[in-house]
Order: sequence, then structure tokens, then C-alpha cells
Amino acid sequence: LGTASLVILGCGGGKNKGGSSIGATPPSSSTSGTNNPLVIPPLIDTRNTTTDLWVRKSQTSILANTVTNTYSYNTATEALGLLGPTLLMENTMTSSVNFINELDVATTAHQHGLHVSGSNDGGPQSRILPGQSRTNVLEIDQPAGTHWYHPHPHGKTGEQVINGLAGLIIIQDQNEINTLPNLPRDYGVNDFPVIIQDKTFNADGTVQYDSAKNYGKRGYLGENILVNGKIEPTVSTPTGWVRFRILNGSNARFYERDDSLSLSNNQAFYVIASDGGLLEAPVQTTSLPIGPGERYEIMVELTASQSVNLRAGKRSILKITADLSGIDNSTANLPHVLASIPSTLNQGQAISREFVLGGDMTINGKKMKMAVINEAVTLGTTEVWYIHGKGARHTFHVHGCSFLVIDRDGANIPAWEKGWKDTVIVSGKRPVRVLVKFNQVADRNSPYMYHCHMLEHEDMGMMGQFTVM
Ligand code: C2O
Ligand code: CU
Repeated sequence: LGTASLVILGCGGGKNKGGSSIGATPPSSSTSGTNNPLVIPPLIDTRNTTTDLWVRKSQTSILANTVTNTYSYNTATEALGLLGPTLLMENTMTSSVNFINELDVATTAHQHGLHVSGSNDGGPQSRILPGQSRTNVLEIDQPAGTHWYHPHPHGKTGEQVINGLAGLIIIQDQNEINTLPNLPRDYGVNDFPVIIQDKTFNADGTVQYDSAKNYGKRGYLGENILVNGKIEPTVSTPTGWVRFRILNGSNARFYERDDSLSLSNNQAFYVIASDGGLLEAPVQTTSLPIGPGERYEIMVELTASQSVNLRAGKRSILKITADLSGIDNSTANLPHVLASIPSTLNQGQAISREFVLGGDMTINGKKMKMAVINEAVTLGTTEVWYIHGKGARHTFHVHGCSFLVIDRDGANIPAWEKGWKDTVIVSGKRPVRVLVKFNQVADRNSPYMYHCHMLEHEDMGMMGQFTVM
């Protein structure tokens, strides 16, 4: 724990940098004064150790007076009704996560955003049958950032995620901590996980989802928008700069255009990180689009006792109240410079590939086949990938690496898309060009996936496999 910067819950001591004078904060105490507090998943330190996670059937109460049957990732000491713990990892360290499948169906465990070897990537090939377990050995070699883990069984990803299987991964980096010591990073105190997902419930409280159903072009669209598994919860924060790590963990819902994220008073906020880590500098905005699978970290400055809502379009999804007393958050600040991001120009790339996402749920006319490797790339090379949506809307995700977005239909992209990403919105007739560098481990027997991250599209076949040679 000596070098931990995030507060590790349940480990006692609660070493706490960033100027706060408090110790470890239990998840529930940071959300007093409301009967619908934001659930803060427990933070588990997985650095240089093996962590067991049990994948189980569970139950939780989301709607009043009903119980919802769910799936969840559970720790040795904590049974979660939904989602999973937040896994703390660190650059240059190794996290071994042992997933124990106690469901009665096969699952897999994929770490979305992590640059790990194909054999530890948890794609559809890495099935964990009921009663079995599988350890993913994650050698972290990438900057600080917010990622996530979720199942990836072919044809069943949508169903398993909607029923509750998803959790955050936070990678920290001592270099980043030393360079930016005052960035808020007290988990659950001034640094909050915000997992946005939508669900429709049946009258009996169960989640309405049918993996055999064709949800069509738009994918599954749930009636309720949940944050960390609750409908419009409240989070208590200190006064000053507060960080939110936002994941669009929805099966297929875009919070984009009229449904973009904003604050109810139209206050400006600052995007500091995209999928793969910090941006070059904070980007001020009043509205932020986020597609399925994408992450953004934002900073919001709150005055004493201020109440403001995070909205998706016109809908309030999270109430923020700066009423957390007894915490000195005065040293938390918004740095002017965050990281250095390489230019997309003059990269000397020789190879370009085209990916056409078809209305028939194909990529380049082909549906995902477990036995077919669609592309082979060369270790250490950089390629330009052209991704076309042909009029519909998708998000395109590549496993095992991060990329830089070059442009969209030849035009400039918003500043918050100019950092490392692994998932990008591909919308309308506007093709997206990305520069992708393959510096994973080469292993011809362990392919990675690329796919649409609208889970119903992915499950219907809008996915392909590539190996790094
Ligand atoms: Cu978030 Cu292939 O996955
Ligand atoms: Cu799609």
C-alpha cells in the first residue's frame, strides 16, 4: 500500500494523498442525506497479486418494492448485487485476475482497453464453462486511465452485460501521480466512477432482454438510465474540483447529439481523459457525446453546497451535491497541461485497411466466425484503418491497443477525441480514420477482436478477428 494513491477500501490505514485529511472512506458514507445514494463499487487493489472474482447469479433492488435477478462479479469478502468491484492496476505491475464461473452458462472475462496478450484478453475463444475458472495475467504497460471488464461470449455478450456483468478498471501510473499530484484521485471521495447503462424492467422487476430477439439497427434501448445500477442516484462531493470517470456501459444507447451529457445549469466542465488516458490538456465543454464502450473522465468545479444534475439529453441521471463536509479538497486542481499525445501526422504508416460496417450486421460483408481469422497485422507497425458505417450509427472497438483518431469524413474531430482511444463513434455516412499501433505481444494462436460495441450488433456478427504476427 505504500505507493497507493487511490484510497483502498477495506485495507485500513487509508493513506490518502491529494491534500485530504481523511482516512479510508467506506463507500456508503460518502453519500449521506439521501435514500438513493450513488453506489460506489468497492476498490480492490489487484497490483502484483492474484485476485479471485466469482461470477454469480445475484439479486438487487433497483425499482421500489421489487427484486431484480442479476449477475455480478463478487469478491471474497463482498457480495455485490450488480456490476463488479473496481480493479486498481498500475503501469509496470502485473494483476492476475481469476474469474470463477458459478453461473450455469459459459462466460468469458475481457478487459476492455488493456494492452495485454491475446491469450489473456478474454475474447470469445477464452470460454469459462460453468464450474470452471480462468486466470487472466495482466502485465500492465500503458498510461493511467479508466477501462472496464465485461463478458464476451459469442452471441451472449448483450445478455450477460445487461444482467449486470461489468466493472471498472483504474490503471494508475506513478509517473502521472508525480507529475500531476493535485489531480483528484481519492476514489469515492473526489474521484467517482459513473457507469451509465439503460435497462427496461418487466412488472416483476426482472430485466427485459431477449438474446434471440433482433433489436434491429438501433440495438437494445432501455427505458431507464441507471448510474452504477440505480436510477438517478445522488452523490455527495466535496467543494472544489471533482473528477468523474464516465463509462458508457450501455448495450447500445448513445448519449450523443440531443442526448449528450451535460450539467443541468449548463455549467462548463472539462474533459481530461478519453478511453486510453489523459488528453494533452483539459477540454472545456458544456456537452459531451459518449457512445457504447467509450470512457471519458471529466472535472467539475463545485461551489459550497451546490446541487447540479448530470443529464443525458433532458433527463437527469445523477444528482451531484457538494455537501460532503469535513473534507479539505482545496488542493485538488485542474492542471493546464496533462500529457503528451503524439501527432497523427508523419507516422510513416504503409498499410491501410478498410472496415465497412454493414446493415446486415457484417464487417466487410462477413459475419464473425470463431474459426476465421480475418486480418493479420505485424508487431510494432502502425496502420491507418478506415471505418465506414454506411449511413447507420455504430461504435468501433479494437482489442489490445489504443488508437488515435485522425479525422471523420476528412474533417477535424472534437478536441476530446484527440487523445488515446479504443472505441470510436462511427455515424451516418462519415467514415472515421484511425491510426492504430500494434505493440502487443505477437501470438498467432491468440487472436484479438475488432467489432461494433453495440452489443446486439456484435452478438449478431458485426465482429472480426485479427492476430498480431
Ligand atoms: Cu468492450 Cu470486445 O469489448
Ligand atoms: Cu453497430
